[in-house]
Amino acid sequence: MFNVQNLVRPHILTLKPYSSARDEYTGAEGTFLDANENAFGSVLNENYHRYPDPYQRKVKEKLAKVKHCQPEQIFLGNGSDEPIDLLFRAFCEPHKDSVILMPPTYGMYEVSADLNLVEAKKIRLTPDFQIDIDAVLKAIDSHTKLIFVCSPNNPSANSLKKVPIRLLLSNFGGLVVIDEAYIDFAGDTSWIEELDNFPNLVILQTFSKAWGLAALRLGMAFASPEIIKVLNKIKPPYNINEVTQQLALQALDNVEKKNEMVKAILSERENLVSALGKTPCVIKVYPSNANFVLVKTTDAKKIYDFLVSHQVIVRDRSKVALCDDCLRITVGTAEENNTLLRVLGSI
Ligand SMILES: Cc1ncc(COP(=O)(O)O)c(C=O)c1O
Repeated sequence: MFNVQNLVRPHILTLKPYSSARDEYTGAEGTFLDANENAFGSVLNENYHRYPDPYQRKVKEKLAKVKHCQPEQIFLGNGSDEPIDLLFRAFCEPHKDSVILMPPTYGMYEVSADLNLVEAKKIRLTPDFQIDIDAVLKAIDSHTKLIFVCSPNNPSANSLKKVPIRLLLSNFGGLVVIDEAYIDFAGDTSWIEELDNFPNLVILQTFSKAWGLAALRLGMAFASPEIIKVLNKIKPPYNINEVTQQLALQALDNVEKKNEMVKAILSERENLVSALGKTPCVIKVYPSNANFVLVKTTDAKKIYDFLVSHQVIVRDRSKVALCDDCLRITVGTAEENNTLLRVLGSI
């Protein structure tokens, strides 16, 4: 029987967390002389002199409705990078525990592993960028605490098949972390709807992509209330600032606008994929379920430098596993994509 308490590092289980002024008194009315704020106001005309809600209750309430889950199943972080780091700190003992990553994938998982002195076991995706399930199951041992699955995957842009992920969720005693940063572009259903079926499931999403709010730094983690409690226990007290919380509330009233932008991006993606397919220096355009495409080129380094010399910046991914001579290209506006295609066509 899965029990989060058995997974958490012992010193985190017994840790006495910081108790903020807003933890100790949660009422909204009163004379607030408890947090050493500036009672006279702020140097700006806005109402910024009070500390924000440490648990972002209003945002979570609204977000829970949009995502069809419970507020207690949500953690908000300073970008997705914060919950990624907190998962390591909560569950992985340095120099002892390990995690499984599946390259080519998002680079922060390995950076967080290295920062936290946790071994990252790398099991490559198959050549069509799917999970090598036998190899992953074989690599799991009693010290393996987290398995990171990125779907749609960065940089390959494809969604990962659900059956192997389900196998991991059913057979692995640690946490399966599914990063759905690009889910809005995929047409797949989110794993959020499976939260109640798998106590070891953690889903990451972000406001940085489809919502167009990368500057705010607002990431989401969805998991059982028990896992969310652990993350809350170790996060910095006021990790999401008041401005971000207010803007997130506004954003959540604009789901339609987000959906419209996704539609526009998908339509541009289709145009871009088709045009790239006819570009002589492009050997292959990999199928994309994200807001970017991975392309195999005749010479990634040369083409990258040529694009930069024309002030078109893409990502050279040719040094990462399974991505020889590959460039990763974000879907831009029609005008930006045309600029890219014009420069590529002139090679
Ligand atoms: C797969 C994946 N997860 C997470 C992130 C980062 O998200 P955030 O901006 O919320 O930190 C990225 C950013 O590129 C990403 O590709």
